[in-house]
Amino acid sequence: MTTSEQGSSLTDIKACVFDAYGTLFDFNSGVMRCRDDIGEAAERLSDIWRQKQLQYTWLRSLMGRHADFWQVTGEALDFALAAVAIDNAKLRQRLMALYRELDTFPEVTDVLTSLKQGGMQTAILSNGAPDMLNAGVTAAGLENLLDAVLSVEDVGVFKPDPRVYQLAVDRFGVAPASICFMSSNGWDAVGAAAFGFRVVWVNRYKQPAEQLPAHADVELESLSPLPGLLGLTTG
Ligand code: LAC
Repeated sequence: MTTSEQGSSLTDIKACVFDAYGTLFDFNSGVMRCRDDIGEAAERLSDIWRQKQLQYTWLRSLMGRHADFWQVTGEALDFALAAVAIDNAKLRQRLMALYRELDTFPEVTDVLTSLKQGGMQTAILSNGAPDMLNAGVTAAGLENLLDAVLSVEDVGVFKPDPRVYQLAVDRFGVAPASICFMSSNGWDAVGAAAFGFRVVWVNRYKQPAEQLPAHADVELESLSPLPGLLGLTTG
C-alpha cells in the first residue's frame, strides 16, 4: 500500500493530536548533549532510560500507584544510571534539566505550521506532566502552533488507558473518528486506534508492527507527509 492510498483513510479530520516524547520531542537529544560526560555508555543509557520510563508508567497504572511523569522519568533515570554503573549526581541533574528542553525532530515546526495554516486544530496529548510539557513547548517555540497541551495528569493514569485518549475528545468536542492521532510509539498508536482515533504511526525507529488487537491507519517515517495526507497544502 502506498502512502497516498493509506492517507485516503484520513478524511473529515477536525483535530490533529500528537504524542510528545519520541514524536515531537527527541528524547535522545538530552543524553546526546552530555555524550562527552557519559562516554561510550550514552546510547545504552538512553535506551534503558526510555524503556524503564515506559515500563514504570504501565506498571504504576496496573498497580494503581500513579506518580507524575517527572517522578517516573527521574526514577527510570536512576535505574538506567545504575545499569551502566554511573554514579554522578551532577550528571543526573543535568539530564533531567535537559529533558525539559529537548530538541524537536527537524520537520516538526514546519508540519505544525502547515496544519495551522490549513485551519486544523492541534494538540499534544502526553504522559508528560503539565509543567514539563509546557517547558518543552516553550523551549521549542511551539506555543502558537498548538491549541492545547493535554496531560494525563487530568485523569491520573497513563497511556494507553482509554481515559487518556478521551481527554482529546472532551477538549475538541468531536467524535474520536474526527481526531487524527500521531505517535512514534507503536503501543500508543495501537491504544489510540483501539479507542477509535484515526492513527498515524510515525515509525521513526523502524520498529516491527506491534502484535496487539488494533492497528494504525497509516505508517510514516516522519511527520512530513501529514499535511498532504490530510488534504492541506504543505507550507
Ligand atoms: C508521551 C510518551 C508516551 O509523550 O512518549 O506520552
